[in-house]
Amino acid sequence: MTKSSPSVNDPDLFDAVVNLCKRRGFVFPSAEIYGGIRSTYDYGPLGALMLRNVREAWWRAMIQERDDVVPIDAAILTNPKVWEASGHLATFTDPLVDCRKCKERWRADQIEDVCPNCASKDLTEARPFNLMFKTFVGPVEGDSSVAYLRPETAQGMFVNFVNVLTTTRRKPPFGIAQLGRAFRNEITPGNFVFRTREFEMMELEFFVPPADSPRWHQYWCEERLGWYVHYGIEGEKLRLRPHETEELSHYSAGTTDIEFLFPWGWGELEGIANRTDFDLRAHQQTSGTSLEYFDQATGESYLPHVVEPAAGATRTMMAFLLAAYDEDEIGGERRAVLRLHPRLAPYQVAVLPLSKKDTLAPLAKEALHRLQRYFMCEFDETQSIGRRYRRQDEIGTPYCVTIDFDSLADHQVTVRDRDSTEQTRLPIDDLVRHLQDKLDI
Ligand code: GAP
Repeated sequence: MTKSSPSVNDPDLFDAVVNLCKRRGFVFPSAEIYGGIRSTYDYGPLGALMLRNVREAWWRAMIQERDDVVPIDAAILTNPKVWEASGHLATFTDPLVDCRKCKERWRADQIEDVCPNCASKDLTEARPFNLMFKTFVGPVEGDSSVAYLRPETAQGMFVNFVNVLTTTRRKPPFGIAQLGRAFRNEITPGNFVFRTREFEMMELEFFVPPADSPRWHQYWCEERLGWYVHYGIEGEKLRLRPHETEELSHYSAGTTDIEFLFPWGWGELEGIANRTDFDLRAHQQTSGTSLEYFDQATGESYLPHVVEPAAGATRTMMAFLLAAYDEDEIGGERRAVLRLHPRLAPYQVAVLPLSKKDTLAPLAKEALHRLQRYFMCEFDETQSIGRRYRRQDEIGTPYCVTIDFDSLADHQVTVRDRDSTEQTRLPIDDLVRHLQDKLDI
């Protein structure tokens, strides 16, 4: 079975995936019954499952299957001194322009001196707009109670560097990894969950001896590119793009983006930055606490340099959905299918009794309960079996298990493969092992 239209760069693909997300419960506009809140989304039952799988796939590759990375989970509300030291208060800005005619606001670097809304050229001068969300801690609103929602998870790892070093007895090269929500008051959010004001990040700060940072930067570029390919994005829809000097973040001596070919063109999935010792040096200076590592082998102390692969979980989930979406024909009938990697699919297995009759229910439930110990399963007994297969194909479930009337006598079930639609009959006792082998779980 080959991939058919729509394919990436087909404008219909974006609409098809956004529509599927809403219709099947991956992503909903937030607080929709109140008219929503601009470019903010809630993750429905399937989206919550898939987002969790994206996080777990990242965690597995970056923490579980390595011996040189440890996780932390730092607070979202952050002391303003952190952002003062990191440079975010002064420089985490986008250039903002107003259209004097229609009053819309734009990012100056994203428009060509013309308002995209009303085509007026009567725009204000660009001025820096800080993207951090400010709030107040406690009942009194004042300068002394200001706090910020983190715009990146990275700083939580820098300010805990010494805590982690001393409690885990690590030495460079080693990494601290963290995933969680981040907040940016984007001037122009959009393209569904591609750019939102609240989103989820997956970041690694990898601390290395200064001279080794170019080698580790190269290593992480290759490693991370391979992760997206492993989880199902075709190589030709991915590319590495080194930043031009003028687009580098204030902390970076060199960044390479991993980009995906979105329906509207290439867009960033992950940035891999060489942050040098910028952050540790800044926090050391501002806090007055030494953040140096003492190397017992050489008797020298130094500030490690940092290589940072920083990805967006919500944006990556969208890329996986776009890459997996396909339409084909089965028995003369058109079907939509998400060819998701089994570890990313919301459900790995669907249990489908052929009939709703009570006679099949006990065996179907027995199969379900056996499978639920190992896999995320859905149980569906309504509508024709053909329609139920289509429903599972459309949400990417790799395997359907059907219990029919013969199953009552021979204790065998039918396993159907999402991609090939091939069906295999096997004893119910072999089901878990069979699916574990197939799913590599
Ligand atoms: N600590 C480095 C850092 O924050 P970044 O390139 O600004 O780097 C990392 O962000 C990743 O987070 C991006 O590659 C993207 O996937 C995701 N991201 C950034 N801003 C986002 C937004 N407004 N909405 C969704 N994802 C976003």
